[in-house]
Amino acid sequence: MSGIENFESSTVSVPSDLGLAPAVDALLSGERDWLANLANVAALLPAYLRDINWLGFYLWRQGQLVLGPFQGLPACVRIVKGRGVCGEAAARRTTVIVPNVRDFPGHIACDPRSRSEIVVPMLKASRLLGVLDIDSASLGRFGEADRGVLESVVECVVHATDWPDFIGKD
Ligand code: SME
Repeated sequence: MSGIENFESSTVSVPSDLGLAPAVDALLSGERDWLANLANVAALLPAYLRDINWLGFYLWRQGQLVLGPFQGLPACVRIVKGRGVCGEAAARRTTVIVPNVRDFPGHIACDPRSRSEIVVPMLKASRLLGVLDIDSASLGRFGEADRGVLESVVECVVHATDWPDFIGKD
């Protein structure tokens, strides 16, 4: 995927010396539209994260996780709560790290290259808005440091954005 240097020619100003969460904050400042913000964050994150093959958002809509802005191969569109890594993170409302997707019963293989995965729930108080899902073609790619950074990123996105009623609704 692309490198951060590609953003230097972008019309959106994201200083390249910022850490990931502050970069997301800078990217979203002045804009609160949910679709624009998720699309821009999905475009920005791969520039900061090494060794990933799929990254995107699933949004909680009418009792299912529905595919939102992403980077990577076309993916499954709907996931029910409790199914796959995304459904598990949504049901438990906590970040799930899977070092080897083959050891995770019910893993949904959208990209056959994926070997490990992290899913971070997007919560606004008790309202489940969706999840951020990231896959890697390497085993054991994601650890506690990634959990911390990505939970901060999700918190920035959740608070910088206005969420329409149809997102985060059963
Ligand atoms: N692997 C996910 C499904 C989404 S794709 O990775 C894009 C899961 O098991 O929930």
